[in-house]
Amino acid sequence: MFHEKFREGIISAKQFDKDDIEYILSKSREMIKKKNTDLLNGKILATLFFEPSTRTRLSFESAMYRLGGNVIGFHSGDVSSIKKGESIADTIRTVENYSDCIVIRHSLEGAARMASKFAKVPIINAGSGSGEHPTQALLDLLTITQELGSLDGLNIGLMGDLKYGRTVHSLSVLLSNFNVNAYFISPVELQMRNRDKDFLRQRQMNYKEITNFRKILNTLDVLYMTRIQKERFVDLEEYEKIKNFYIFRKEDLEDTKENFRLLHPLPRVNEISPDVDSSNKSVYFKQTFYGIPMRKAILAEMMHD
Ligand code: CP
Repeated sequence: MFHEKFREGIISAKQFDKDDIEYILSKSREMIKKKNTDLLNGKILATLFFEPSTRTRLSFESAMYRLGGNVIGFHSGDVSSIKKGESIADTIRTVENYSDCIVIRHSLEGAARMASKFAKVPIINAGSGSGEHPTQALLDLLTITQELGSLDGLNIGLMGDLKYGRTVHSLSVLLSNFNVNAYFISPVELQMRNRDKDFLRQRQMNYKEITNFRKILNTLDVLYMTRIQKERFVDLEEYEKIKNFYIFRKEDLEDTKENFRLLHPLPRVNEISPDVDSSNKSVYFKQTFYGIPMRKAILAEMMHD
């Protein structure tokens, strides 16, 4: 049972096997049809965001309200007692008394995992440093399957900052449960980390690393673009040199398959030209919509009696 398996929370995409993914995708599709319910009436979700967010925090909160529940939390470490020197562990041991589930985003890669060691309520990782962002990856799969049907057999490119981008780390792990051909497209400096590639190889994922996306663009079913993660660079001069390495332009669409789909977890900076937005192939704003049914499905599974 999903609820039993994920009792302590959702920390990593590695917790999910193919059946878990298909189960939660099917629950998410049910949630698309049910806009508002009272399933979580009387329950409280805590959203603890130590890093900026628009989509993840607001979609978790919207999802909770649409399930009839309530939300408490903060959008910055600066407005919590962390600012006075309190530890994350003590924060979690406090907030668990006020809520039925805790969603946490933090700049430290191990923060959500550590929080789950201290909490008696489920912890959901809403982004942990350069590590993972598992619920984003689930909504990415929901978007792809809603747009294109099955994942099996698709040619999927993940492009941009594959070193620091947490969404691509979680997404590649989820995709390794399916029969996809993956292309990891990045500048050499921002290639997928060896530890991530080692894991994917153990899973026997079929992937290739390339730099020039235009060489394979006409073969792709999905291109998942990401922002170069300025906030993770130690040397900002390095960021300045590489920040515009990839820009997807309107004319690039001409070289894509009829059913090609362009995704991006957002926020974007310069990596997709605004004149690409109006194409039916650009689905990054639809992706933001799918965050709601996906997170409703997850919250319902984690919290209902
Ligand atoms: N995709 C995503 O995590 O967006 P936010 O940083 O706005 O939450």
